[in-house]
Amino acid sequence: MKVTSILGVRPQFVKSSVVSRELRKKHEEILIHTGQHYDYQMNKVFFEQLNIPEPDYLLDIGSGSHGYQTGEMLKKIEEVLVKEKPDIVLTYGDTNSTLAGALAASKLHIKTAHVESGLRSFDKSMPEEINRTVTDHCSDILFCPTMTAVENLKKEGIEENVYLTGDVMVDSLLYNREIAENKSTIINYLGIKSKGYLIATIHRASNTDNEENLKNIVDAFSELNETIIFPLHPRTEKFLKKYGLYDRLKSSVSLIQPLGFLEFIKLMDHAKMILTDSGGVQKEAYVLKVPCVTLRENTEWVETINDGWNVLVGADKERILETVNSFSPSLNTHCNRFGNGTASANIVSILK
Ligand code: UD1
Repeated sequence: MKVTSILGVRPQFVKSSVVSRELRKKHEEILIHTGQHYDYQMNKVFFEQLNIPEPDYLLDIGSGSHGYQTGEMLKKIEEVLVKEKPDIVLTYGDTNSTLAGALAASKLHIKTAHVESGLRSFDKSMPEEINRTVTDHCSDILFCPTMTAVENLKKEGIEENVYLTGDVMVDSLLYNREIAENKSTIINYLGIKSKGYLIATIHRASNTDNEENLKNIVDAFSELNETIIFPLHPRTEKFLKKYGLYDRLKSSVSLIQPLGFLEFIKLMDHAKMILTDSGGVQKEAYVLKVPCVTLRENTEWVETINDGWNVLVGADKERILETVNSFSPSLNTHCNRFGNGTASANIVSILK
């Protein structure tokens, strides 16, 4: 079987690394990298650390508006699919690269399979919500990480070829956790102590592109009496500078460049708490049993909330301060909600 996988951004590199390894034991895989993420620290370092094979096609789309990015990807992915004629196209997650891959394949009547299918935040102002919903509706095979995702699809009338596989990010996390512990020197390098610091990651458009929200977040972080390590996404850096907030944030937290996967896992594993607006990081925090405070009003990972290990605080300064200062979840309520590291093997066996 010939499978074409579409990648473009950091979390997709993480997810595909484990599926690719499984897939390539018996099948041919062609990798298309759209180039949505292109800086060394956003891109190449993941390929190096996770031993992801070199992409067969690098489309070099780069940054731009949603229409530009998705449109350019659609044209170029179509050209590759026409040439390669794969049996199946595999897409991951909810980014513009995911949407372009699923659309290109389905319009050519090539079977598409979506990994991380069925997730919903029910917030259509998020570009990711549009991307994942459309991708699910034009995919032929739907791989769901959780039962909630299976039920979401059912409510939208999608019941055929829906599989509960567990979560591929858990596979990747479990596979790399010990490697990260042994290899990464980030804790010593930063001069911090295990469980003596918080990590913050912010990159969601609703937080970065909105001046009031970004200011509230910077205000809250400046008032917290904690060591905060903040790996800075390029989008966030751009808007912090645009709104004149960069220097203030820099004086109260430890701003560092985006991290490779192994450094980031180790830093999460030893953190006292994680503050984030990322989807994947909420889940990784849960799996690592690190309390998570999510700077959004909704989440597609409701299980983390229901188990009491994640709290939604939006971009509200008082809610951020109050929660960080009082949050202490109990191990008794932590259930293993995202699978046990076999999602990639499940996916590949279903694809056969
Ligand atoms: C994208 C995804 C988001 C995912 C995130 C993972 C969409 C709509 N969003 O968001 O769902 O959670 O990736 O990180 O697909 N930039 C650089 N260098 C890079 C990449 C980006 O400088 O290597 C800058 C550019 O100024 C760009 C901005 O970051 O305009 C945003 O990048 P983009 O790929 O559009 O979206 P993300 O915010 O990374």
